[in-house]
Amino acid sequence: MKILKKEKVLVTSALPYANGPIHLGHLSGAYLPADIYVRYKRLKGDDIIYVCGSDEHGVPITITADKEKISPKEVIDRFHNINKKAFEDFGMDFDIYSRTSLPIHHETAQEFFKSFYDQGILKEKKTLQFYDEKAKMFLPDRYVEGTCPKCGYEEARSDECENCGALYEPTELINPKSKVSGSTPVLKETSHWYFPLGEFQPWLEKYVEEHNKKYNWKDNVVQQCRSWFKDGLKDRAVTRDLDWGVKVPLPNSDGKVLYVWFEAVLGYISATKKLSEQLNKPELWKDYWQDPETKYIAFIGKDNIVFHTIIFPAMLKAWNDGNDSKYVYPQNVPANEFLNFEGKKFSKSRGWGIDVVDFLKLFPADPLRYTLASNLPENKDTDFYWKEFQARNNNELADILGNFINRTFTFAHKYFDGEVPEIGKLSKIDQEMLNLVEGIPYNVSDLIEKFKLKDATLEMMNLARAANKYFNDSEPWKTVKSDKGKCGTTINISLQTVFTLAEIFMPVIPFSSKKIFNMLNAKPVNWFDAGKVNLKPGHDLNKPEILFTKIDDKIIDKQINKLSNIENTAGQDGTKEITYDEFSKIDLRVAKIIEAEKVSKSEKLLKLKIDLGTETRQVIAGIAKFYLPENLPGKKIIVVANLKPAKLFGLESKGMILASEDKNGVLKIVEANKDAEPGSKVK
Ligand code: MF3
Ligand code: ZN
Repeated sequence: MKILKKEKVLVTSALPYANGPIHLGHLSGAYLPADIYVRYKRLKGDDIIYVCGSDEHGVPITITADKEKISPKEVIDRFHNINKKAFEDFGMDFDIYSRTSLPIHHETAQEFFKSFYDQGILKEKKTLQFYDEKAKMFLPDRYVEGTCPKCGYEEARSDECENCGALYEPTELINPKSKVSGSTPVLKETSHWYFPLGEFQPWLEKYVEEHNKKYNWKDNVVQQCRSWFKDGLKDRAVTRDLDWGVKVPLPNSDGKVLYVWFEAVLGYISATKKLSEQLNKPELWKDYWQDPETKYIAFIGKDNIVFHTIIFPAMLKAWNDGNDSKYVYPQNVPANEFLNFEGKKFSKSRGWGIDVVDFLKLFPADPLRYTLASNLPENKDTDFYWKEFQARNNNELADILGNFINRTFTFAHKYFDGEVPEIGKLSKIDQEMLNLVEGIPYNVSDLIEKFKLKDATLEMMNLARAANKYFNDSEPWKTVKSDKGKCGTTINISLQTVFTLAEIFMPVIPFSSKKIFNMLNAKPVNWFDAGKVNLKPGHDLNKPEILFTKIDDKIIDKQINKLSNIENTAGQDGTKEITYDEFSKIDLRVAKIIEAEKVSKSEKLLKLKIDLGTETRQVIAGIAKFYLPENLPGKKIIVVANLKPAKLFGLESKGMILASEDKNGVLKIVEANKDAEPGSKVK
């Protein structure tokens, strides 16, 4: 028998940026795992709070606002509400879904900054910062794109490389380009406050290694930390020249805000304060954040590791060094890898993937939760496939779990007046089933405590599998005629098993679990009692409800077809990789347009005469809707020179001109450099 000590637990999930909808990848990374953990802990009777909220500052928000020509405030209000609702519909059991735009958050973040400042921890440094002379503004991180100084990735952000994870100073970026005006930004002097992360390195290394040893951190997390340490931690600027954000709480700091990551992680604390306020217990947050007994678990995706294992702990340490109140550090940071969608990265711009709101318009939350839980990217990237979703729903939820419950209820209602029958003498398989049921909460608990949520989910379904087998082997349809007492025993044990299933499945499929408890006319018990005999003979059952509806091929095929349409429009990362050899078969040349005229009877086509250096050619191009013929002569373009000649509207076309298509289907000719010679090869 285990001695069960009630734990005090604080759980957070990364605060998503309020600049776009939550998609399935987010759910698998940082939200569903935390929710499963939290729901299990609640059933176990631990003292737990779970906080989250919107991350509402930072450049992603202002970029979205610029793009849509609305204010950042409009962006965050819209997406905060959309995401809050989407999380609710998905069944997230947050105690609060807060926001970093709240005054309480600004105060909290400023309080930390002030404390560091007063302790003399922060260093002021004059630096050179990218400045867009056209747009007349300092360019924050993501407004500048260029080549990563570490790995050479060409679309790196100014301070952080998506490809290799490197963090660097914006001035180290190679070939910078302003995203605001497209111009090459200049470096201009400004001054910023720096947090001396390097000074915390010895303490951080100890923190990571000790926690790893004691709490068995995930490999991917520890490896990333070690590689950071190996490179050596450096001073990090914690202010930015921007309007949108938490103002720097110092005189003469107009136009400066706190770096978004510096304040966002403190959003966990301010969210807990807000919760305390709502509950009318203003000091409650301290019971969690400042009680050394608290077990603090931070759920995140792998792109957030450094912020939660290095930067945030260093900030908490800096606070703790200079204040009487002491914060707890994350005890574990079970970061997940990424979930991809049908073999590729989620991409909002290409329409690849599906967000939660759209998904829940089509299907209920539980089949999605179960599918994602069965395939969590715990140790490697995984994929969501529509076909797998269908199979998990139809072959597992409906055919295994739903079927077992349905058979059991049908028997109970048909032959035992809708009451739990008496339990009689136990056969060997009865006893085995009871043993299995009794052990299962412990097995699942062990896995969940180790953050092996995928295995825990498998274990849950395995109980349903075993239950079906037990039902089959017991043959109640025979014993109901030959030995009603024996049949009653089978149905009694099956009903106890339904109870156990309802409870252990609760963290993964809470909506269905609730229905099952309704059917059982019962309430959940403590997690570790879920495997005991919980239903007394004579207990009245309710009528069964439909738990899982099978999903038709037609419905799934519709979703899959949508995807192949996207693939056919040949997106960048949507197409198959080719080798250099394959590419080099395409003869790309610079050409100059000499003449252009409309093709009669065609709305789409223009007839072009082009100069290819050594020859002139006729090319028929589908750009009539986008260009007036008179504007084309003189343009230097790029053509596929060795495309097989074809006839269009009876006209010969030799070659094809390159054009790019925007998301509204507008074509723009790809223009070559103005002084490129016609005929020169493009490679
Ligand atoms: N908004 C960030 C992201 O989506 C996560 C912030 S986590 C926090 O990647 F701790 F900083 F809040
Ligand atoms: Zn890189």
